[in-house]
Amino acid sequence: MSFETLLTSLENGIFTIVINRPDKLNALNKTVISELGTALDEVYANPSIHAAILTGAGTKAFVAGADISEFLSLDANGGAALAAKGQELVFSKIEHCPKPIIAAVNGFALGGGCELAMACHFRLASENAKFGQPEVNLGLIPGYGGTQRLVQLVGKGKALELLLTANLIDANEAKQLGLVNHVTSSEALLEQTRKILEQILTKGPVAVARCIEAVNAGFDKTKNGYEEEIRLFGACFGTEEMKEGVSAFLEKRKAAFRQ
Ligand code: COA
Repeated sequence: MSFETLLTSLENGIFTIVINRPDKLNALNKTVISELGTALDEVYANPSIHAAILTGAGTKAFVAGADISEFLSLDANGGAALAAKGQELVFSKIEHCPKPIIAAVNGFALGGGCELAMACHFRLASENAKFGQPEVNLGLIPGYGGTQRLVQLVGKGKALELLLTANLIDANEAKQLGLVNHVTSSEALLEQTRKILEQILTKGPVAVARCIEAVNAGFDKTKNGYEEEIRLFGACFGTEEMKEGVSAFLEKRKAAFRQ
C-alpha cells in the first residue's frame, strides 16, 4: 500500500503503520485521518494481517495532536464534523478492531495523539514519551474521545486534572496511572511491542477478538457487559479453534491455531 502520510509494512502477520509527518511532529491533518481510515480498513479486511502497531516517524513525536493549522477556518458545525469524521474513520475503528492494535508511543502523544494511543487496545511507551490533553490551551476540548477514554484509563479525578491543567506527564507517570503498560528505551520500543503481539498471535484469534469485544461492551452504555460475555463465551463453544485449544491441552501438546 502506498500513502502520502503513512509508511506501512507487513511482517509475520503484524502490520506496522507509521504516521510520517515528522517535520510537523506527525500532526493529524485531514490526509492523515483519511489515510489512517484506509489503512485500518486493510487491517480489518486483509486475512494476512493478524495484528497492528501504530507509531510515529522520528524520535520526537508519536503524534503532537490534531493539525492546529486546519482549525481557524472551522465554525461550530465544521468542528463537530471534524470530530465525528475522525472518530468514525479512525478512533472507533481502532477500538472495535477484532485484531489487536497496540500503540508504540515514541515521543509526544498530545491531544489527538494521546487520543489515538488511547483508542488502541493498549500502549507501550519509550522513555522520552510525553502524554497530555492540552486542548484547553487553545480554547478547545478533546474531540477524538479523550474526555471518555482518559477517564476509563486513569479515573475521573486524574483525567479531569490532566484535561483542566493541560499538564504533560512523562512515560513513567503514564505507566503509574495505567495509561501505558510498559516503558522501554526508544531503541527497544518496536521490538518489545512486536514481542507482545507475537505472543498474542499464538492464541486463538477468535477468542482474542471476543475478549476485545466483551471488554468494549462493558464501556458501551447500550450493552450489558456481563450478558455480552455470556453470549460470547457460549459462541466460543461452536468454534474449531476451541476444539483445537481444548484437545491440545488434553493431549499435552501445543495448540496450532494458525496453519
Ligand atoms: N498541529 C500542527 N502543527 C504542529 C503541531 C500540531 N498539533 N504540533 C507541532 N506542529 C508543528 C509546529 O508548528 C512546527 O512546525 P514549523 O516548523 O513549520 O513551525 C513543527 O511541528 C515542530 O514543532 P515545534 O513547536 O517547533 O517543536 P517544539 O519542540 O518547540 O515543541 C511541542 C513541541 C509538542 C511542545 C509543540 O509543538 C506543541 O505544543 N504542539 C502542539 C501540541 C498541542 O496543542 N496539541 C493538541 C492539538 S488539539
